[in-house]
Amino acid sequence: MENRITIVGIGPGSDGYLLPVASDHIAQAAVLVGGKRLLQPYLKPGIKTKVVDGDLQGVVAFITDELTTGHVTVLVSGDPGFYSLLPLLRRHFGDRIDIIPGISSMQLAFARVGLPWQDALLASVHGRTENPEIWSYRTGKLIGLLTDGEHNSAYVVKRLLAAGWPLHSKVWICSHLSYPDESIEQYSLAELQEQGGVGHCVMIING
Ligand SMILES: C[S@@+](CC[C@H](N)C(=O)[O-])C[C@H]1O[C@@H](n2cnc3c(N)ncnc32)[C@H](O)[C@@H]1O
Repeated sequence: MENRITIVGIGPGSDGYLLPVASDHIAQAAVLVGGKRLLQPYLKPGIKTKVVDGDLQGVVAFITDELTTGHVTVLVSGDPGFYSLLPLLRRHFGDRIDIIPGISSMQLAFARVGLPWQDALLASVHGRTENPEIWSYRTGKLIGLLTDGEHNSAYVVKRLLAAGWPLHSKVWICSHLSYPDESIEQYSLAELQEQGGVGHCVMIING
């Protein structure tokens, strides 16, 4: 039987939001790949790890090598199907991949603000080429947006204002979701003109 890669979504961060099936799989894994913070709780003698950093080709080479002798488990935050390493790994390893889903930060953010996300435009400005559809305004438009340190809430507010979103539009900034210092704040676009930026958060925007 060929060795396989399992990509495990570990949820938004705290243990309570890690699915039991994910934690059972990780407990059996001998080779773990993931961001430094994600690997931290699982560093144990006998477990081989590879930190995912800027060198993605190095990560692919490590996985290719490990697959010659055993299975590989890749940890990603939230859900693997939503802005993770999955597209890169599929390009290199095709169908040799199994996925254990996780609770996305986007799901938790919508749950916290109590809105359905079925009609929302879900997107990311986290270190990537942006979907131009994000910025155009229409009455009632609902957006869920992942941000990063540079493309933070102040950047998003600037783009929305430049695109003509009305000042009364509602914006929620959801940060540190699932952690003890979780923060969910609701503002109008007008109020946010005066505020500094929050990065690595989920923004929910309702025009
Ligand atoms: C590379 S994306 C990964 C998204 C992930 N696959 C998911 O489903 O949540 C990283 C971004 O997700 C968001 N994120 C992840 N965990 C979060 C948390 N606990 N609280 C708020 N935002 C979070 C931030 O926007 C962060 O910059």
